[in-house]
Amino acid sequence: MAARRLSSLISLSFLSSSSSLGRFSRWGRRISGFSTSAAIDEPINPSIQIDQTQLLINGQFVDAASGKTFPTLDPRTGDVIARVAEGDAEDINRAVAAARKAFDEGPWPKMTAYERSRIMLRFADLLEKHTEEVATLETWDNGKPYEQAAKIEIPMVVRMFRYYAGWADKIHGLTVPADGQHHVQTLHEPYGVAGLIIPWNFPLLLYSWKVGPALACGNTVVLKTAEQTPLSALYVSKLFHEAGLPPGVLNVVSGFGPTAGAALSSHMDVNKLSFTGSTATGKVVLGLAANSNLKPVTLELGGKSPFIVCKDADVDKAVDLAHSALFFNQGQCCCAGSRTLVHESLYDEFVEKAKVRALKRVVGDPFKTGIEQGPQIDNEQFQKILKYIRSGIESGATLESGGEQLGSKGYYIQPTVFSNVQDDMLIAKDEIFGPVQSISKFKDLNEAIKRANASSYGLAAGVFTQNLETANTLTRALRVGTVWINCYDIFDAAVPFGGFKMSGQGREKGIYGLSSYLQTKAVVTPLKNPAWL
Ligand code: NAI
Ligand code: MG
Repeated sequence: MAARRLSSLISLSFLSSSSSLGRFSRWGRRISGFSTSAAIDEPINPSIQIDQTQLLINGQFVDAASGKTFPTLDPRTGDVIARVAEGDAEDINRAVAAARKAFDEGPWPKMTAYERSRIMLRFADLLEKHTEEVATLETWDNGKPYEQAAKIEIPMVVRMFRYYAGWADKIHGLTVPADGQHHVQTLHEPYGVAGLIIPWNFPLLLYSWKVGPALACGNTVVLKTAEQTPLSALYVSKLFHEAGLPPGVLNVVSGFGPTAGAALSSHMDVNKLSFTGSTATGKVVLGLAANSNLKPVTLELGGKSPFIVCKDADVDKAVDLAHSALFFNQGQCCCAGSRTLVHESLYDEFVEKAKVRALKRVVGDPFKTGIEQGPQIDNEQFQKILKYIRSGIESGATLESGGEQLGSKGYYIQPTVFSNVQDDMLIAKDEIFGPVQSISKFKDLNEAIKRANASSYGLAAGVFTQNLETANTLTRALRVGTVWINCYDIFDAAVPFGGFKMSGQGREKGIYGLSSYLQTKAVVTPLKNPAWL
């Protein structure tokens, strides 16, 4: 299957249709723009019934041991969508015990790999059939455009499960030539119980990046979803059981980080951990793993990814790509192209066009057709982003567009563009995780490389050039896990993803992701009178 660009749906075709909001900026300069709609104030009713709100432990939906629940909120309004069972340490214990039993006593790792593969394939089929319901839940809980969820993300989740189902029966070790009369083989074995902790920005996509390879390798799973977005994982995990998944193989615990998340990270009976989220929490999780049973940890953390526009770039294309690299998913992407570095010869034209593009961005109720941007996930993120915007203004960057809340309800933020951004400003250094583009100017390639690498992060980079030599130079110079040349956000089940430096450790997706759920065992047997060595 061709590589899929996450943001490919965010096409330019429906940009000019909506009305514009004229307003004055704080300097009195008239700024017109932000295609928006009244739907921001009158949210569309998703009309789906929410049935799965309990914890999924040992194949059963159950209440939390404490009986506690917490609300999951609609980012369009801040209203409660549903109350969900709140798991904590005791529920994690129950879930780990179920996963332990399903691993130690079977059936999962004792099943043939072909049988495991078939269950995963049946799940992928069921998921595909229920795309509408799943995408509706994802949009309601997260605020992302429904079209993005239904046409891009859920199909990618389906593809990911089919990809890893295909690997399940192709995992094998080597016969190793050794000095002396010994037969040596390696066995690739599952770790046991995998603890998986996911964030809220791509709930189901990240579910698939972790649950897919963990189960394909024969591990059993305890998944802790993000407290902001618990609904879709519960729904699809029920489908997984309908597809024939035995009880205890996949347990889902909704709950908070410091309680359920920490209990999972420090559990003595969890053999492998995989975490996606902030660098700060990644450090905590790694510490908990180290101080308990030293379980290996895969970390996918934050980023401040440079998007480098070289002097020979096609400006219009570069503007569009830089725009989607940053604004996709409301700017809530670990690999968002959040440092737009533009060669000085193109800079003025680029800034003007980037501003025009941002002003045309269609923001509104994510259930509406043609919407490019919905609300931010919650009030905490909303306030954090507005604070960064204020800091950008105060530190002297030029606000080209946006900068404020959009509408009066929920967590919508105007697509915001800053130019004249300096490297020592907070908006150039910190992960904002919102619709805020920061543009700065460079003189030559060496300067661009140096500045691009001057970050504690190293997740991804975009390079825009028509010159092969320039592309090759940058590809090797940039200290990041992914370099996208003349493209961005190309995700594919087979392509590894992960970070250098404080963006994480280990890789997900592809064969690299598979290997992080497997132990290697060497088996050595003496050979008596072998015909050959
Ligand atoms: P977070 O990293 O705190 O949360 C991610 C997951 O970790 C959630 O499931 C959470 O419940 C869990 N968690 C939190 N504390 C934990 C602990 N002590 N032990 C175990 N698990 C724990 O991220 P948060 O607070 O949602 O967002 C803060 C910032 O993190 C964002 O503004 C953004 O910059 C970054 N972020 C990065 C993501 C990425 O894709 N790399 C995704 C989400 C957030
Ligand atoms: Mg929610």
